[in-house]
Amino acid sequence: MGMGNPLLDISNEVTEEMLTKYDVKVDSAILAEEKHMPIYKELAEMPGVQYIAGGATQNSIRVAQWMMGEAGQTAYMGCIGKDAFGEQLKGCAQTDGVLVHYMEDEETPTGTCAVLVASGERSLIANLAAANNFKESHLETDLAKEIISSSEIFYSAGFFLTVSVESLLKVTNHAVDNNKIFCLNFSAPFIIDFFGDQVAAALPFADYVFCNESEAEAYGKKHGLGNDGKDLEAVALKVAAMPKTSGVRARTVVFTQGSSCTIVAREGKVTKYDVTPLGADLLVDTNGAGDAFVGGFLAQLTKGADIAKCVDAGHWAASIIIQRSGCTFPEKCEYA
Ligand SMILES: Nc1ncnc2c1ncn2[C@@H]1O[C@H](COP(=O)(O)OP(=O)(O)O)[C@@H](O)[C@H]1O
Ligand SMILES: [Mg+2]
Repeated sequence: MGMGNPLLDISNEVTEEMLTKYDVKVDSAILAEEKHMPIYKELAEMPGVQYIAGGATQNSIRVAQWMMGEAGQTAYMGCIGKDAFGEQLKGCAQTDGVLVHYMEDEETPTGTCAVLVASGERSLIANLAAANNFKESHLETDLAKEIISSSEIFYSAGFFLTVSVESLLKVTNHAVDNNKIFCLNFSAPFIIDFFGDQVAAALPFADYVFCNESEAEAYGKKHGLGNDGKDLEAVALKVAAMPKTSGVRARTVVFTQGSSCTIVAREGKVTKYDVTPLGADLLVDTNGAGDAFVGGFLAQLTKGADIAKCVDAGHWAASIIIQRSGCTFPEKCEYA
């Protein structure tokens, strides 16, 4: 089960000038401020605009569902508005076989995410809107209770920490009380830098922690670990060794690094897994690479696979998604 911010991605190729105009860094992820608001309309009016189901957690769950095959193996919750964008998000997840149980906010539009693709890299500006209004009360609905009690693995991207820590803690406490697995993603440097208390509240519950190299570095820098984030293997080991609420299972920390090797730390030991290089001509956009990695990883984790296999499935899923626009995949999953 995933819980997160359901967002419809409004994606388009942009120039470096447009990034500069909106004060956006390449390969960054931020929350929209007032100055960013005109960008959604601007993107929509440019030729080639695409509307694609997004939201980091929902992407990972869709990918996991795709790789697990049989419909209804995964579930997802988050808050959408009562509008066409919300319908599109729901339709996409349902078509992929995910059991979705959205909270619906009648007064607020569905959240959107501007995806600015410039020379293969993506920058994200999220306008959370309805996604920001998820409430713990939704977890008291009959269907939510049923989903939670029948789920074995829970996952949230760190982005959800800006919305409802109470909801997250309700789920993490259920996981601890029932010997289930909780997985957390740091998701973006701004989460680490500006939502440090929320990260600190969730981290002790995490059996698995995922992030990319820039988030790992930001975490090391903020907490003075691994030579202030310059030594990522040391950061991974420290995060793995941090206090854990459940006494069972050592924490596993997974840092992806784009085309460079993936670092895994567990029980005082680091293992590195190479990424198969992808020719530049095959790369379409890296939007969703990390989300897809997590989806592939979790699909294998549900089968009780070892870490090497989980990472392999993560790398495979990511390689498929970056050869396509947005977090999309072919109908059939050919992963063996
Ligand atoms: N340029 C690339 N070439 C090959 N694989 C890539 C590339 N970028 C990303 N990947 C794959 O996607 C995974 C996650 O990418 P990463 O960039 O670390 O995540 P994020 O999307 O969070 O920044 C990598 O471990 C790798 O498997
Ligand atoms: Mg990256």
